[in-house]
Amino acid sequence: MSMPSKQERWIVYARWFLASGGLLAVLASAGTAIAAYYVAPASDMEAGLNPIWNEAKYFVLDVQTGMVFTAAATLILWGMLRVLTWRLDARAVPVRGRAIATILGLLAVCVFARVIVKNHPVFVETLRVTAFPSSEAPDQITLTWADSPDTTQSIQWRTAPGSPAVTVRYRTQGATDWQTADSTNESFMAENMANDDKIEWHTARLADLQPGTGYEYEVGSETAWSETRKFTTAPAASEAFSFMYLGDSQIGLQDYGNLLDVGYEAHPEAAFVIHAGDLVNRGCDRDDWDLFFHASRNVFDQYPIMPTIGNHDDCGVEDPRLYIMYFDLPKNGSDVLSKEQTYAFTYGNALFVTLNSNLKVEEQTPWLEEQLAHSDAEWKFLLWHHPAYASRSVRDNPDVRKYWGALADKYGVDIVFQGHDHAYARSKPIHDGQVADGTIPGVIYVLAVSGTKFYDQDPNELFEVGYEKMPTYQIIHVDGKTLRYEAYDIHNKLVDDFSLTKK
Ligand SMILES: [Fe+2]
Repeated sequence: MSMPSKQERWIVYARWFLASGGLLAVLASAGTAIAAYYVAPASDMEAGLNPIWNEAKYFVLDVQTGMVFTAAATLILWGMLRVLTWRLDARAVPVRGRAIATILGLLAVCVFARVIVKNHPVFVETLRVTAFPSSEAPDQITLTWADSPDTTQSIQWRTAPGSPAVTVRYRTQGATDWQTADSTNESFMAENMANDDKIEWHTARLADLQPGTGYEYEVGSETAWSETRKFTTAPAASEAFSFMYLGDSQIGLQDYGNLLDVGYEAHPEAAFVIHAGDLVNRGCDRDDWDLFFHASRNVFDQYPIMPTIGNHDDCGVEDPRLYIMYFDLPKNGSDVLSKEQTYAFTYGNALFVTLNSNLKVEEQTPWLEEQLAHSDAEWKFLLWHHPAYASRSVRDNPDVRKYWGALADKYGVDIVFQGHDHAYARSKPIHDGQVADGTIPGVIYVLAVSGTKFYDQDPNELFEVGYEKMPTYQIIHVDGKTLRYEAYDIHNKLVDDFSLTKK
């Protein structure tokens, strides 16, 4: 037996690598086939009652398909190599080399199987379980505005399908008689929920309210009303008001809820909340939203939330179906996106314009210009997710700066509220990409985070203040021509503040 050449040794190693991998894949195929044999009848029996069995069946069959293909591919390659090199005597090749090739073959198939499993929809996007299932009783009661904050109020809530709780009754505080308003009811079926997959989402729009007036309301039906809650309509343009601004809640929703509660306990004067996007981590998964609404339950049933869409809030960039269902927002947005993805509203003497920075930034620009050009509000605020001046250069959003930053300069926007960078930053007053020289006010860009996902932040000469790993809530007080901005941490410690005064 002559000593094989180096090339011959590698051919033998390849044969052993393919043979061992192929045999393991055959075993895995057989194992998953046996598993499928037991799982499939259970899925038929339980279909509709317990979707887990259905998902398990498809998962097992998909893994089996992957293993069958792996087995076929490796064994065909092994066979071809064996035929082409049939004269080669593997026994002449050192045992140690063949053993290593065998182990590597087994490992390669294990790694491949793990990739299949890890990327399988069962683990990526299915089998979600909500800790807060719906019931006949209304929950997730949430206020927004779809129209003027001084004379309208949208009230939304969730029930299980078929609940009679489809009505709101309301009255000015202290009055005796109730008025009622019916809701529109949207059924939502979440195909990837292992429990509570069907809910109904109810939206009632109250109109012809009195500005600056306190109301009380209950949702439900004539046989069972919820406990009484309160809201207050926006005051006349000349009156002072406050609001809260929050950055990404996304991950750490329980901590976000604590921060929200701490903020409202200290500042119940904040009339509403603007949220800069990434409300949740997985916008297509209802259990994430259930967590979000549970964490927000003590606030958003009394104080409206006016959010913008972050990159985590949709089901694929052009399909924010849950976000759109949950929040009844003004339908006055840009025509380049479906309604409610951008909108504008006026509260007191301030204009708020909300944009979707996930897509079509340039195309939304004419609509933004229209809003800014036609508003005579004293204060102009913009809200979007991706910062014009990012925490780190690798997170830059040049289009946001180029198209929307330019309009903020042109129309004298006061503050741009942003998120996405999972840190806190407040810019110096900026004009045309530089620190304003003092002859013009400049635009202040802020970004914040309210959850517990944090990113590092590089030093930036455009930033006045920057913090890492610090969830904050912000209270902005507007009083005629003066504005005071305050940022607080979870302990109610003031960590940033500034004031603006108009001439
Ligand atoms: Fe984000």
